[in-house]
Amino acid sequence: MNSPLQTEHLWMPFTANRQFKAHPRLLDKAEGMFYQSTDGRQILDGTAGLWCVNAGHNHPKIVAAIQQQAATLDFAPTFQMGHPLAFKAASKLAEMAPAGLNRVFFCNDGSEGVDTALKIALAYHRIRGDAGRYRLIGRERGYHGVGFGGISVGGIAGNRKQFGPALSGVDHLPHPLDISRNAFSKGLPPHGAELAAVLEQRLLALHDPTTVAAVIVEPVQGSTGVIVPPQGYLQTLRAICDKYGILLIFDEVITGFGRLGKPFGADYFGVIPDMIICAKGLTNAAVPMGAVIVTESIYDAFMHAAPTDAIELFHGYTYSAHPLACAAAIATLEVYQEEKLFERAAQSAPYFEAAAHQLRELPNVKDIRNLGMVCGIELMPQSGKTTTRAYDIFEKCFWEKNVLIRTTGDIIALSPPLIINEAQIDQLFAQISEAIREQAETK
Ligand SMILES: Cc1ncc(COP(=O)(O)O)c(C=O)c1O
Repeated sequence: MNSPLQTEHLWMPFTANRQFKAHPRLLDKAEGMFYQSTDGRQILDGTAGLWCVNAGHNHPKIVAAIQQQAATLDFAPTFQMGHPLAFKAASKLAEMAPAGLNRVFFCNDGSEGVDTALKIALAYHRIRGDAGRYRLIGRERGYHGVGFGGISVGGIAGNRKQFGPALSGVDHLPHPLDISRNAFSKGLPPHGAELAAVLEQRLLALHDPTTVAAVIVEPVQGSTGVIVPPQGYLQTLRAICDKYGILLIFDEVITGFGRLGKPFGADYFGVIPDMIICAKGLTNAAVPMGAVIVTESIYDAFMHAAPTDAIELFHGYTYSAHPLACAAAIATLEVYQEEKLFERAAQSAPYFEAAAHQLRELPNVKDIRNLGMVCGIELMPQSGKTTTRAYDIFEKCFWEKNVLIRTTGDIIALSPPLIINEAQIDQLFAQISEAIREQAETK
């Protein structure tokens, strides 16, 4: 018999450790659309792990690439050295990125990608003799990972308040969620594009546009509970940044790699930023990896500013372009193309949308919002107890309904692998509906 699992040594991330350890939810296998729990149940994955397993679990091509690479070249430094897969992975990613974005800096996850992009933005202005541009503008309820740069431009209060003042010279746009005007909108909400103009009318007016280095936003805000940008919003941000020489950074850690039915959110919206941060789906989450994709002109500015024998950017990670991550990324990007998974996501999106909005009349459902293969279901909080309703539903889904959902506050966020089929979409929403209904009956 297996000995009972010792849980006391692990300090779990973003988890109520004591609550979890009292009744652990454990997974030990996965394939395709399903996890297997340690008590042997097949759990339908409504969240692609953590917004990351876009091609489905344990894809054989990705598994084989990693296994082969581990036995061939375990590690090679990329500071003043190189290995061919690093260049190959960068080329493949550049090919997939929107036209004009074709220089790739590798890191290990989304948080490092955010810090890398912010540092590139600051350094870019400085090397061009514009060091007065030191301000960074993020957005309320934005999630940009957990580095000090990311929590500074991020706007989720809980992620900031334990850690003091963080970076100075940061301000935030208002978030565009407006349930009073946009409740139950399908796709891009009609109201709220004017909130992008706050950048010019309030923030740049207050701080002086010549002090602003970059604006960073998620095209669709994911971790905060799925906030879809109003029609025209991102276009306005782009126009204002252009007008004042400010770099626009899209954090596409969630929206990258087909989540909206296109390679990147930038493609979906037809708004091309100066930098894209990606991670998660880059390797189908099989090996950690992140990347910042920048325009050729940003890269060239660094090349022109330094002599050829000088390091142009004093930044990098031991594991930038790790061979296993590169092997996983190359295989993953090939899978996306060979299996036409982004097109598949675009085709599934209307069915997913219709299934999601069928939950509209259920008790305590306050809003449903969606775009591509992402959906948020916002619930009325139980009086005086924010998060408990959604948490109860999450537990019910896992233990009784055999589906994995994610909740943040009182919002259910869904982002299944792009391989999900219609029967599985039905199953996902039917189980969630039951859980919402049953939870409402008990409390
Ligand atoms: C938009 C965005 N940026 C950054 C991150 C941080 O990524 P990681 O957890 O890989 O550091 C996340 C993670 O969910 C994210 O959603």
